[in-house]
Amino acid sequence: MSIHYDDTRKLFSLTTAHTEYQIKIGPEGRLLHLYYGKKVGGFDMGYLRHYQDRGFSGGSRRAKDGSLLEESVDLAAQEYTGNGVGDYRITSVSAVSPDGSRSVDFYYRSHEILSGKPEIPGLPSVRGDGADVKTLRITLSDPVTGLGVILSYSVFDAYDIITRSAELFNEGSGAIRLEKAASLCLDFPNGPFELIHFHGRHCMERQPERVRLTHAIHTVSSRRGMSSHHHNPFVILARPSCTEESGECCGIMLMYSGSFKAEIEQDQEDSVRAVIGIQDENFTWELKSGAHFCTPEAVLSFSADGLGLMSRQYHRLIRDLVLPPRHRGKKRPVLINSWEAAYFDFDEEKLLHLAQQASELGIDMFVLDDGWFGKRNFDDAGLGDWTVNLEKLPGGISSLAEQINRMGMSFGIWMEPEMVNEDSDLFRSHPDWILADPGRRPSLARNQMVLDMGRKDVRDYLFDAIDTLLRSANIEYIKWDFNRSLSNFYSAVLPKERQGETAHRFMLGTYELLDRLTKAYPDLLIEGCSGGGGRFDLGMLYYSPQIWCSDNTDPIARLTIQEGTSYGYPPCTMGSHVSASPNHQSGRSTPLETRGVTAMCGAFGYELDLGRLSDEEKEKIREQIAYYRKIEHLIREGSYYRLVSVLDGMPFRAFEYVLPDASEALVGIVTTDAEANAPFPFVTLKGLEENAVYRLDGTDRLFSGAALMYGGITLPVQTGDYPAVQLLFRREA
Ligand code: GLA
Repeated sequence: MSIHYDDTRKLFSLTTAHTEYQIKIGPEGRLLHLYYGKKVGGFDMGYLRHYQDRGFSGGSRRAKDGSLLEESVDLAAQEYTGNGVGDYRITSVSAVSPDGSRSVDFYYRSHEILSGKPEIPGLPSVRGDGADVKTLRITLSDPVTGLGVILSYSVFDAYDIITRSAELFNEGSGAIRLEKAASLCLDFPNGPFELIHFHGRHCMERQPERVRLTHAIHTVSSRRGMSSHHHNPFVILARPSCTEESGECCGIMLMYSGSFKAEIEQDQEDSVRAVIGIQDENFTWELKSGAHFCTPEAVLSFSADGLGLMSRQYHRLIRDLVLPPRHRGKKRPVLINSWEAAYFDFDEEKLLHLAQQASELGIDMFVLDDGWFGKRNFDDAGLGDWTVNLEKLPGGISSLAEQINRMGMSFGIWMEPEMVNEDSDLFRSHPDWILADPGRRPSLARNQMVLDMGRKDVRDYLFDAIDTLLRSANIEYIKWDFNRSLSNFYSAVLPKERQGETAHRFMLGTYELLDRLTKAYPDLLIEGCSGGGGRFDLGMLYYSPQIWCSDNTDPIARLTIQEGTSYGYPPCTMGSHVSASPNHQSGRSTPLETRGVTAMCGAFGYELDLGRLSDEEKEKIREQIAYYRKIEHLIREGSYYRLVSVLDGMPFRAFEYVLPDASEALVGIVTTDAEANAPFPFVTLKGLEENAVYRLDGTDRLFSGAALMYGGITLPVQTGDYPAVQLLFRREA
């Protein structure tokens, strides 16, 4: 029984295979949080709370005999807070009633327990179909304002995952203006905790950072209209002693691709509150009488056995229940992408030459990147005009795709649907289709402007343009790019009092377009992209099973980018390519082997001018592809272990993939800083069967699982520039 309600104690107990989450209806009807952690068998964890009268935390009431009637809301652990009624910590909601009052106080009204999991209208959410999942829906309401909220908790027993979202509704007679509507409030009554988050910049996404919480509010957020390169909608609260392998931690991830905000506050009692949801800055939503507003879903992964397990729980859930069903567990094509090979400078002959060489090397798919449409010879023109540039490609896309198919490869193409250049036919005919404030020229970035995806006419235009393109040629893949942060959040079709809805409506519009497209073309493989990994989040992964992880293809920089990404997202979602050396972004030179080892850690491909390679290098690429075919199921389905992480400060990194039945394990070790007279690189493997015998592939060396896990392996001293090795262990029959 994954959800249990004990009416005598007014206690909800939500259990997964190893975790438990407890909620209590308080004496006054407020919804209190009791516990989230390792399973405690339904034991009422309310005993943990002591009542202490703390000055300036009002609202508590005692009976004459000294017993506590009601705890101060400023001290209570709550499931979803009201606002303005005495809890001075971060709020879940901010709302203005028709009479101008801002206070909200929620009380329990009812609950229901459902088998399965309802979808969240208009938003991507973890898929309930086919999973063993139950959902608890608790309705709270504020009798004074008429504002209510339905809190949904879906319990994925076998995954050790609980998802949460909130649906606000208005039962009053006038419109309520929402100014904040968080998805989740989660109180950890007893600290201390550390915060792990993933910051970055273009070409340097998701750098892990671990900091001790202080008595302040820590905010991780984006105001960019996209989840962003700079922060990811994902934070981890970890006990200070938590490591990869041991200790408690809790991941909090938001399934949303727009502006978001995660706030973490350590309060006067050293309790920690985490609140995550849509960014509230510049956000408003007019909630008419009778209307509902759904927040994005937050996904919780608690582990009592370290960060590695927390990540693997996310990986399994995302692979099984977030990625588009048709692509679940399916082989991904090894692709060649034209961008770093040709940039905007190509014609049909050049592309076919690149494709011919790729097919000779055994590559599966040719992807034509930016530059094939409109007057697109640089980034200052053409976006929005999704018809082929016949000067570059006289036979059109269909003839190019046919010729590539004849070479034995499939064909994919780049698009950036949500954007438009000023110099485009689309903008000339529809100047009002962009986000722009009245009387102000919108701020440009990469010479482009942003289409108002909240408009149906814009979405219909884009659907028709993509549909026409897909019907015109055998296109099996789209790289869906998004190359600027949003600004000038003003929509020509919204009244002035609803302009605060523009950014969220943009996101709802993009999701609706992707939904329509993926329903019409369920086998189409979409690779998400945003100047690399600027929109690497669950919202996009719901539609695109892989996302270009970064515009930085330097394999050494990629180690950290991919490792940072791995805390939340499975390796099979990370688009990763072998590119030229010296690298185009960093100027660093690295061996082809090392570029192969790091690119094979994700959805593998190539992105370089194959014509510049020697015969010897081409031979190596053939070998790399053959090796990838041998190990790709490990990348796709394997359990992932960070053996030596960037946070360990070692001169090398190591990672491992283990098949669920422990029959095969792949270890990658990359030297990032060769030292003179260095110690032997040493790692211990994880996840093997102790008593089984494993053979190191390609050798006659045998090891017991226990030896590899407890004794480990050492490598000879590694010298030179960035050497890398891959070791494949296979269980003997
Ligand atoms: C973005 C992508 C690149 C490439 C260019 C094309 O930067 O991340 O991979 O597609 O756009 O303009």
